[in-house]
Amino acid sequence: MYVSLSGDEKSRALEEIAREVAECKKCRLWSTRTKPVPGHGNPNTDVMFVGEAPGYNEDLEGKPFVGAAGKFLDQLLGLAGLNRGEVYITNVLKCRPPNNRDPLPDEVEVCSPYLDRQIMIIRPKLIVCLGRHSASYILMKSGVRIRSRQGGISISAVRGQVFHVNYQGLSITVIPTYHPAAGLYNPKLKKTLMEDFIVIGKVLKNIRSGSLGLGS
Ligand code: URA
Ligand code: SF4
Repeated sequence: MYVSLSGDEKSRALEEIAREVAECKKCRLWSTRTKPVPGHGNPNTDVMFVGEAPGYNEDLEGKPFVGAAGKFLDQLLGLAGLNRGEVYITNVLKCRPPNNRDPLPDEVEVCSPYLDRQIMIIRPKLIVCLGRHSASYILMKSGVRIRSRQGGISISAVRGQVFHVNYQGLSITVIPTYHPAAGLYNPKLKKTLMEDFIVIGKVLKNIRSGSLGLGS
């Protein structure tokens, strides 16, 4: 059984996670990070955005998506009728991998319980996965079986699709899309990202009005 938390209780529970993350040494990434990046935004939101891991600027500032990809994310949020102040943004990994290399499976395994706890506290109606690593983690954990030949998930195969999943007992709509950084230098992916965020806005509107998904 899940007990809904008040806004203050959600804030406090997320702050507790941020404190744990600040002291965390569960994987090798603590030793090369500058600041941990637990997540940022409105604890009372109904939509969460989950990226991959902090990059160069995020590691310096301690906040998610503050670099070039973050500026583009702000534009994309606008296309969905959203702004940063009303959503919660976090990553699968809370510390920056050196040189922005891909997250390693053992890092995802030990860090993801923080993300799972954030999801259980916020209880969003919609999770938007930004990029392959986020989509792989969230969809696999939801029991969605779409694997590419390399294992994990092919982001081009799932992007823009609307999944209704059971995540740790919560009914959540999940929409994966490309990582915003992928759209910075690739006009085709940029266009697809913009289209996906328009879909995200429509789906959210339907969810908020009580009907699931894109509706008619
Ligand atoms: N890329 C991510 O995946 N997350 C961030 O916070 C910044 C860039
Ligand atoms: Fe801990 Fe996650 Fe940072 Fe690794 S990446 S040290 S598990 S908070």
